[in-house]
Amino acid sequence: MKRRNIVCAAALGAALGATPVAAQDTDTTTAEFEKFRAVMEEANPAELFELKGEELWRTRRGPKNASLEKCDLGLGPGVVKGAYVQTPRYFPDVGRVMDIEARVVHCMITLQGFTYEELAKQPFSTETRTPDVVSIVTFIAAQSKGMKFDAPQSNAQEREAYELGKAIFFHRAGAWDLSCASCHGADGKRIRTQQLPNFTNPQQAARGVLGWPGYRMTGGVMHTLQWRMNDCFRQQRFPEPKYVSEAITALLTYLTVNANGTVYKGPGIKR
Ligand code: HEC
Repeated sequence: MKRRNIVCAAALGAALGATPVAAQDTDTTTAEFEKFRAVMEEANPAELFELKGEELWRTRRGPKNASLEKCDLGLGPGVVKGAYVQTPRYFPDVGRVMDIEARVVHCMITLQGFTYEELAKQPFSTETRTPDVVSIVTFIAAQSKGMKFDAPQSNAQEREAYELGKAIFFHRAGAWDLSCASCHGADGKRIRTQQLPNFTNPQQAARGVLGWPGYRMTGGVMHTLQWRMNDCFRQQRFPEPKYVSEAITALLTYLTVNANGTVYKGPGIKR
């Protein structure tokens, strides 16, 4: 079994133009990285983004000169504590399910008067620029530290979002005929030195959402799960989804509900 997985990872690595490495080397790399992460998390750079996000949340901004303090993240206007671990969820005012980033974008548009186009123009962090939304989401996420994931499934649309996310997860297509499950549907797969979590294994399901938003040491930037989804679609050779699209919300519903019950440890560190 182990051997087959290594061969499979090597094949995938080759398909993606990566250099396959021996399993032994990757184990050492992983162990070293885990040590490094433990040290780094003591003084997590994510905290800088939390502070920045909190300031942005409270500051009057945008054409309407309003703060986000009236934004309803699902638990009532202005309630931030616990909101992150209880999304994606159904929002009656828009009649659809939203993940936290989609909801923040919605509030920046409706309360502050920003446009979707300007927020979607460069939505992901680069080495020189962190979009405000990323800092705000990091601030909100930090207010759920120590709480259990509890994405609701009580409403029919929330259950539909889960089923849609699951269907997307297993849907194979594109130039390489890949699905999310091709890389994340079996134990022990790797690309280069990275171990790929198996989201269909209940023991590993939470790894998809733990540590996000994450400070990525590659490039030294803060990223949310919206970025992670986009980047995986790219690896899958799929067209890039629209920023905060319903397809992404559906995938995040699938990943989060599967992690329900796991304690969220707050924004983390990724490589
Ligand atoms: C071609 C292989 C490939 C495909 C297909 C793929 N991913 Fe990934 N995925 C990766 C790699 C590589 C990583 C980074 C692993 C790391 O950083 O250690 C990753 C990381 C992730 C993570 C973060 C895991 C963590 O430990 O934080 C999530 C969540 C995720 N993928 C979801 C998806 C979803 C949803 C899809 C389908 C839209 C998908 N992936 C498709 C290769 C893939």
